[in-house]
Amino acid sequence: MTTNYNDRSVSKVEVTGSEARHYDFFMNVITGGTYPFFIRRSVQEMHIQPEDKILVLGAGTGRNISLMNKYLSEGAHVLGLDIGPEMLEQAQRRFTDHPYVSIENQSIVEPLPYQGEFDKVFISFVLHGFIQEDRLKIIANAQRALRPGGEFIILDYNQFDMEHSPRLVQFIFKMECPLATDFVERDLESILREQGFDKFRTHPHYRGYVRLLAAQKKGEN
Ligand SMILES: C[S@@+](CC[C@H](N)C(=O)[O-])C[C@H]1O[C@@H](n2cnc3c(N)ncnc32)[C@H](O)[C@@H]1O
Repeated sequence: MTTNYNDRSVSKVEVTGSEARHYDFFMNVITGGTYPFFIRRSVQEMHIQPEDKILVLGAGTGRNISLMNKYLSEGAHVLGLDIGPEMLEQAQRRFTDHPYVSIENQSIVEPLPYQGEFDKVFISFVLHGFIQEDRLKIIANAQRALRPGGEFIILDYNQFDMEHSPRLVQFIFKMECPLATDFVERDLESILREQGFDKFRTHPHYRGYVRLLAAQKKGEN
């Protein structure tokens, strides 16, 4: 059966129930224990500055934000957005009364009120799970929220030819989220260029099936 990549109902991006309650543990297990090293390395590749203002789209349990913390100091601010009740509960518990991290219940597909106020916008393993129309809305939100010269940092599946990749890879991607198959075949750099970004940095992970892609918002710093 072929998947309709414009059908929102096939998305699996809203993590709920016990998968959400044990999400961090689950990620460690399905990556054979490599996730903590991978995510620490990826956060290092964000090139965080001590006073950065960072917007995190689909913050999940707040695990990534807790790793960003060690690069930040007074004057910094991290705002994490999510809509999953179990995810929000874990993230909010993690950062109760934190001096510069806040977590809000906010859909990242709706127009966000932020304009040119963030140095970085980070999104990890979220974008692939939306239909293309919604991905464009999320990218537009990131573009508006960033200051000129700020970076949109996408940690997600890399671009590759799914049809000619090993059957096991095709199977894993179908199981993970049907929309991921559509995502990996799109030219994300060109899409970002059309949405006002340039100066790309790429860091591959997991044999190139995953990458951190950073794109700068065009304009004067
Ligand atoms: C696969 S998880 C990734 C979580 C986190 N970014 C990470 O890397 O650990 C996808 C996340 O996106 C969130 N999400 C799904 N739809 C969303 C939406 N419309 N607005 C905000 N967050 C959303 C889910 O609740 C979940 O926390």
